[in-house]
Amino acid sequence: MNLPLIDLAGRPAVQQPTWPDPLALEAARQELSALPPLVFAGECDLLTERMAAAARGEAFVLQGGDCAEVFAETNADAIRAKIKTLLQMAVVLTYGAQMPVVKVGRMAGQFGKPRSSGDETVDGVSLPSYRGDAVNGLEFTEAARRPNPERLVEAYHRASATLNLMRAFTQGGYADLRQVHEWNKDFVRESTAGERYEQIAQDIEKALAFMRACGIDGESFRRVEFYSGHEALLLDYELPLTRIDSRTERIYDVSAHFLWVGERTRQLDGAHVEFASKIHNPIGVKLGPTTTPEQAAELVERLDPNGVPGRLSLITRMGAGKVRDLLPALVEKVSTTGHDVVWICDPMHGNTIEAAGGQKTRRFDDVVDEVRGYFEVHRGLGSHPGGMHIELTGDDVTECTGGAEGLKDHDLGSRYETACDPRLNRQQALELSFLAAEMLAPVS
Ligand code: PEP
Ligand code: CO
Repeated sequence: MNLPLIDLAGRPAVQQPTWPDPLALEAARQELSALPPLVFAGECDLLTERMAAAARGEAFVLQGGDCAEVFAETNADAIRAKIKTLLQMAVVLTYGAQMPVVKVGRMAGQFGKPRSSGDETVDGVSLPSYRGDAVNGLEFTEAARRPNPERLVEAYHRASATLNLMRAFTQGGYADLRQVHEWNKDFVRESTAGERYEQIAQDIEKALAFMRACGIDGESFRRVEFYSGHEALLLDYELPLTRIDSRTERIYDVSAHFLWVGERTRQLDGAHVEFASKIHNPIGVKLGPTTTPEQAAELVERLDPNGVPGRLSLITRMGAGKVRDLLPALVEKVSTTGHDVVWICDPMHGNTIEAAGGQKTRRFDDVVDEVRGYFEVHRGLGSHPGGMHIELTGDDVTECTGGAEGLKDHDLGSRYETACDPRLNRQQALELSFLAAEMLAPVS
């Protein structure tokens, strides 16, 4: 048996599945540990450099993708639509911020989910909760809900296929800046809210025409750096994919470029924080409304012990009604530690409500309001609003209400497809990027 590189003994690991068959689990872990890395140490280091720019106030980070990726959606259309949406958002944000946008897909590994309860009860029947496709199936049957470690291996292969397409799309000319701008023009033309965004689209058009006239038409138009990220939740997946880089002898989690610790697993003496502190990838930690300034500062010391700029992102998810009250104390306390962290806003997870029909939903206006509050707080304190972390899809789903199309509670049933939390659809995601671009615009 290969011993894991990171010793988590004595560190409680919450939110882990109860695997019914230990031998099958060990076989899956062995198989994973023999498979090639999905990402390389050098790529992770480059992302840390990019994140450092965001920590210095010279870049903006866009992270986005499904709440839970599902195996059945590992197809070219769904992956392309997500990448297309993220690239479109990034162009708008680049223009708004007048700085580079670091693009990180919440993709190619987001197959595990923390749950508020270990069981789900429907009509008096209790079964294990769905913990993501890497663990069990969403269908409410005993067979589907039984945790199956073979799914960990399948998650690796699905992640590998997704990453391959991500690399091909972003390196092979598909993501040409002019093409992405054409898609944005289509959005402005077709969207009900289009008029409001026409000015930005026209300004980008002019900037592109100017660059063309100057003969600026290099490789940077045709290729984009695009990174992968997911929550480092399932330690039976992450540990076997943790390797030593032969060049530097440092430890990296080679399942993704960027890994984050979730709100439910960020205990200071827990296994997830220990794991994240030992890997050299750029990492994040979610901070919800119960986080005290002291806890935030302690997490910063634990997760970025060497004070490497860009290593650590603090992804705040307070809720629209709380961000203005709670965020300032965290920012002020963390600034006293002297660490250069990236402050990222997750305007999704503090704004989940139940719709009249019982579905989990989010109001588009709440999402926008949290982003607005986050900008206000950072501007007020002189810290850099360094990025956004969004649950979105490239398709026309109906999971969040509001936005230019004015989706209402009673519309949610028509295309409610998420396996977990409600995602912004393509239109809502693009609209958010135009609104955030307005907030980002340097004050002249
Ligand atoms: C998530 O990002 O899907 C999630 C569960 O978030 P959090 O850890 O912030 O609750
Ligand atoms: Co979620």
